[in-house]
Amino acid sequence: MSYASSILHPNFKLGVLGGGQLGKMMAQAASNWHLPLYLMDQSADFPAARVSPFFTEGDFKSYDDVYQFGKDKDVLTIEIEHVNTEALHRLVEEGVKVHPAPDKLDIIKDKGLQKQFYAARGIPTSPFRLYPDASAVRGAVASGTLSLPFVQKSRTAGYDGKGVSVIRNEAALAEKLLPGPCLIEELVDIDKELAVIVARNEDGAIKAFPTVEMAFNPQANLVEFLFCPANISKELEEAAVQLSTEVIEAFGICGLLAVELFLDREGKLLVNEVAPRPHNSGHHTIDSCYTSQFEQHLRGVLNLPLGSTKMKAPSVMVNLLGAAGQTGPVHYEGLADCLEIAGVHLHLYGKSTTKPFRKMGHATVVDESLEAAVEKAREVQRKLQIVAGE
Ligand SMILES: Nc1ncnc2c1ncn2[C@@H]1O[C@H](COP(=O)(O)OP(=O)(O)OP(=O)(O)O)[C@@H](O)[C@H]1O
Ligand SMILES: [Mg+2]
Repeated sequence: MSYASSILHPNFKLGVLGGGQLGKMMAQAASNWHLPLYLMDQSADFPAARVSPFFTEGDFKSYDDVYQFGKDKDVLTIEIEHVNTEALHRLVEEGVKVHPAPDKLDIIKDKGLQKQFYAARGIPTSPFRLYPDASAVRGAVASGTLSLPFVQKSRTAGYDGKGVSVIRNEAALAEKLLPGPCLIEELVDIDKELAVIVARNEDGAIKAFPTVEMAFNPQANLVEFLFCPANISKELEEAAVQLSTEVIEAFGICGLLAVELFLDREGKLLVNEVAPRPHNSGHHTIDSCYTSQFEQHLRGVLNLPLGSTKMKAPSVMVNLLGAAGQTGPVHYEGLADCLEIAGVHLHLYGKSTTKPFRKMGHATVVDESLEAAVEKAREVQRKLQIVAGE
């Protein structure tokens, strides 16, 4: 069923678990249709509360909070995957539409199950093994069943590179292993990190945004720049979109799926991981594509026609990170200078405290060529400093 006629009904309720910057931008997209978005997160100080009057304080990891929040909603979605899925299963039984489906969310939340899902379906991904804890990993190295180097990932609750440890040598093996259940992956010789955001609706329609290329900040281990279009051949672009389409079909979920890919030095595409929601690698779509990822997510979960994903202009997205060594009430230096630059769109998330490398916002720079946009993005980085103020 399409919700096209019901979304304007005053009683129609679309709920979102999570109220950070992604929830904020989703609420902004919904407001174009005058569609109220009901969001839940821990504090009414969070970014989304500023743009939605329907903000509930609650913990999306709590069974009771999720159940209570969800039970009067027509459709429920997420802006973060670490939510209580037990409550979502019950809500589905009671007739609430939940997108993405909780059984698929259970798989995606656990990086171990996620990798097994790909392996079982022949979806290309780096070879891996699961271990119960760090000492089992050390034991496997000692007995020769596992060899260095490798990448260790916590099975649950990792984000922004925090649950990932690259183990290159004996010293790292002694000091850098993460505790708890984990997977060990082959260290991929990465040429480029790419991402494709695909959307699907209940009718099974699928559309992909153009492939983007990510550049990482080595110190913070998170995305610093994102280029759209990616600097890859047409064949690779098509292969990346084809692979991502296969992945969303395999999951069969509605709404967005952000597919993070590695292009290795042999030219092979591997699926790294997915996120079933709007994603950092799709922020540029607000300013540079016919449809934003946030509107596309709404279209997907409401079974509306998916929007055109066509690019209006090449763009660079730069994450605006808290300056190194600065913790405290946030203060933006050089904001006005950035606003002088043609094609620079600033998106600030309204976080009250800055920390080293914390994502405080992003800027999307559009221009006639990617090179010109890159120049301006670097200028934004030079001019804008996010520091601790009074
Ligand atoms: N098998 C691998 N080989 C080489 N590098 C890897 C591998 N797995 C992860 N990485 C590097 O670590 C980064 C973070 O890994 P991953 O995306 O799995 O973690 P994450 O915590 O979910 O990150 P994020 O939230 O930023 O997406 C990757 O973008 C990549 O740069
Ligand atoms: Mg990732």
